[in-house]
Amino acid sequence: MSDAEVIRVSPGWLALREPADAEARARDLAEALERALPVGGSRVIHDLGCGAGAMGRWLAPLLAGPQHWILHDRDEDLLARAAADVPGPAADGTPVTVEAMRTDIARMQASDLAGATLITASALLDLLSGEELERLARLCAGAGCPVLLTLSVVGRVEITPADPLDRRVAAAFDAHQRRPTGRGVLLGPDAVAFAARAFRRLGAEVLVRPSPWRLGAAHSALTAEWLSGWVGAAREQEIELAGECGPYARRRLAQAGVGELAVTVGHADLLVLP
Ligand SMILES: C[S@@+](CC[C@H](N)C(=O)[O-])C[C@H]1O[C@@H](n2cnc3c(N)ncnc32)[C@H](O)[C@@H]1O
Repeated sequence: MSDAEVIRVSPGWLALREPADAEARARDLAEALERALPVGGSRVIHDLGCGAGAMGRWLAPLLAGPQHWILHDRDEDLLARAAADVPGPAADGTPVTVEAMRTDIARMQASDLAGATLITASALLDLLSGEELERLARLCAGAGCPVLLTLSVVGRVEITPADPLDRRVAAAFDAHQRRPTGRGVLLGPDAVAFAARAFRRLGAEVLVRPSPWRLGAAHSALTAEWLSGWVGAAREQEIELAGECGPYARRRLAQAGVGELAVTVGHADLLVLP
């Protein structure tokens, strides 16, 4: 894959979103997961596209017993951050261990997941192409363990108060997420339905829960950063929007800055049970 096709995620953005992500994740799926995991023994958990390790910091304290997290990402800087900020302890006080692995998920092999008790990924599926996600579903199903896939965007954004340009920006952003690349057309907001179908075809049970961000005055920095990225992608996608996007972004950022915006960004979480 060429460097131009690699979507780089900044550590600052991941740090900014981590508290909102933690609030949004579907806790009942973590509870269902704990019930589905084998009792006793050390749990080996592979976190795919771990970024700076937020998934482990949220999930490890909700699971009991010894856990060894194997953190996979292709970004070495993020991997180093994830390995330095170890999650845990587990729900029963057991320390958690981690191991960082530089991995391109699109090229993972079944042997990379051998012995897994659990596979997780967060904010990853919508960045993949259909072909990549289909392959990943087969690999995960082959590992024969539960899979928790959280915070995939679903293409539902609500902003209050409404603005006449909201819908066009939202549609252009969704189109940008579904853009063709050298590794196929990215799934964007179609990833959750695609993953659920792929895992069900492979015979797994799939539970789906909404996990939206609900951003208000207390999240003004995250709202501003999200808005800039959202409008920027829309402008890149639909050149005709260029003239209107500048004033729109300034209007919306000013509202966010004084705590006048409420934004709901739709995500969904999936728990896959073999
Ligand atoms: C939006 S970030 C989410 C990070 C983290 N899971 C979280 O929830 O904070 C997506 C992560 O997936 C990684 N990623 C995307 N495609 C990948 C691939 N093919 N192989 C390995 N890592 C990948 C990126 O480097 C990035 O760290």
